[in-house]
Amino acid sequence: MDISQLKKEAALKACQMVEGGMTLGVGTGSTVAYFIEGLGKRSKEEGMEVRCVPTSIRCAQALKKSGLEVCDIDRVGRIDLTVDGADAVDPNLDGLKGLGGALLWEKIVAENSDRYVWIVDQSKLVDRLKGKVCLEVVKFGFEKLLEELEECGLNPSLRKGENGPVLTDSSNYLIDLDLGEIEDPAFLATDLKQRTGVIEQGMFLGMADEVIAATEGGIKILK
Ligand code: 5RP
Repeated sequence: MDISQLKKEAALKACQMVEGGMTLGVGTGSTVAYFIEGLGKRSKEEGMEVRCVPTSIRCAQALKKSGLEVCDIDRVGRIDLTVDGADAVDPNLDGLKGLGGALLWEKIVAENSDRYVWIVDQSKLVDRLKGKVCLEVVKFGFEKLLEELEECGLNPSLRKGENGPVLTDSSNYLIDLDLGEIEDPAFLATDLKQRTGVIEQGMFLGMADEVIAATEGGIKILK
């Protein structure tokens, strides 16, 4: 089965969790794009009204395009439910996020949510967290930070696009650490977060309440 189909299945399952009147946090990425599509459809066909707190400018634009109400996080109270994607998820429901570049807003929205759910296809399920850990960093002194991370053996690289360094929605830079298997995610998360210049890091540990994983064998709900 193709991955896009699995992403869509996970997203549509999450759409069923939504009830009219909810304040929703909405993640960023290709899987969440199907969630937004499904929400838009429910809002048109069933007249379901929800308020959506976006996790990126891209997300806000997609929500508006689907006819959904977009709210600033500081204009709402607690968020009832946030649905987001992830780049990797381990059996403890710890995960890596940020390949789409929205990790800072995503983490803020997640921390202000009563229920936090990830939607993933089977390719994201891993035994141990490994691969790219993303950092959102301030521009000032980023080369010094790159040197520091390199000296610590963390294989950092500045994320670049066609027109130079990628800018986040908060106008910061992104550094990707190419780490392979992560021995002690909690230790690394603390170590990275306390470095001057690092605004946020892309390990989301102990945050997800549920993961909806679409596999060739059907939908799995991990709790
Ligand atoms: C964006 C993210 C995304 O949720 C993550 O990259 C998954 O994206 P996709 O659904 O496109 O695979 O963390 O910062």
